[in-house]
Amino acid sequence: MSARERAEALDAADPLGRWRDRFVVADPELVYFDGNSLGRLPIATRDRLSRVIDQEWGADLIRSWEHWIDLPTTVGDRIAASVLGARPGEVLVTDSTTVNFYRLASAALDARPGRPVIVTDVDNFPTDRYVVEGLAASRGLDVRWIRADPVEGPQPEDVAAVLGPDVALVTLSHVAYRSGAIADLAGITALAHDAGALALWDLSHSAGAVPVELEAGGADLAVGCTYKYLNGGPGAPAYLYVRTEHQAGLRPPIWGWWSQREMFEMGERYEPETGIRAFLVGTPGVLALNAVDEGVALVAEAGLDAIRAKSVALTAYAVELHDELLAPPGFSLVTPRDPRRRGSHVAIGHPRAAELCRALVGRGVVPDYRRPNVIRFGLSPLTTSFHDVWRGLTVLAELAGA
Ligand SMILES: Cc1ncc(COP(=O)(O)O)c(C=O)c1O
Repeated sequence: MSARERAEALDAADPLGRWRDRFVVADPELVYFDGNSLGRLPIATRDRLSRVIDQEWGADLIRSWEHWIDLPTTVGDRIAASVLGARPGEVLVTDSTTVNFYRLASAALDARPGRPVIVTDVDNFPTDRYVVEGLAASRGLDVRWIRADPVEGPQPEDVAAVLGPDVALVTLSHVAYRSGAIADLAGITALAHDAGALALWDLSHSAGAVPVELEAGGADLAVGCTYKYLNGGPGAPAYLYVRTEHQAGLRPPIWGWWSQREMFEMGERYEPETGIRAFLVGTPGVLALNAVDEGVALVAEAGLDAIRAKSVALTAYAVELHDELLAPPGFSLVTPRDPRRRGSHVAIGHPRAAELCRALVGRGVVPDYRRPNVIRFGLSPLTTSFHDVWRGLTVLAELAGA
């Protein structure tokens, strides 16, 4: 069977094949591999936003705050249950991933006084590394960098090698933004705990594509984006997770009026809310929260087991095509070969990656380029077909002169 026939057979047998119809597909010819950066627009979101704009904002005006006020926690609970393996009251949707990361990392460092070290890895997403550097600079702490295999990502033994009684916080991404490698969340968290440290996870590239078990994995803290596999829209607010058992003991660094008990009493002194609402700061973006709610509802309806099964099949097919069409003209796979160890994107290396990526876009195939030599193919299970993968990688092989 040819590669194209295999794609057709896989699409014909795909139980999620019709889910693309639930999204706006303005150009059916466009092959979109950036659902891991900006997920497509769900049709239900367009409808919901016009309802919220016309009725809730346009007609009901300020009276709508009666129910809008709970959106950060109700949408948080939906994310907790459907994609994070977390309990009700542990997740908030608010602010950006970067801001949430700063706030949780700060609270964790305050909870471990006298420990001067933060552990992270050199291949972690830039914003996480920069926030860690900034916190270290402002508090006089040290960053202990893990240099792991760039394809396989940090392993428990890499983390164990840098842990000690001086470490306050270990922070890593669950799925690496460049290689797509999955880290052992439970194993690494347990190692951090054995050393007396807290663990903070960035779930941006896992939530909605790879099962995450925060409660079962013993996670302390986590953050992540909603505009990728959760299809919340450009700049949609991020989520933050604080394990129930830590909520009373952690002190959020920003004391805003949204975390004040009885906020409309306008009290003279700050008295924080209990529970996850203590991590709210100021007025949330209501339109964007409604969009996140719809995006997450779609993922919940499709079910994470089905999504993961398709994601594994898509990435396996992409790896097959890489070996068949792209390895001979000099490409290399920059993503783990073991499907249990990779998320939902496949990274392919080439010395001329930047130029090839631009040429792909010119041919109607949209992946993204990651410095210095990687083209990243995000295979969003609800909207990517096997035919897309065939088409995209075949065009890439042609462009490379194969
Ligand atoms: C792993 C990871 N963390 C954080 C961010 C940035 O989040 P934000 O710009 O929403 O703060 C991204 C964005 O792509 C990301 O991939």
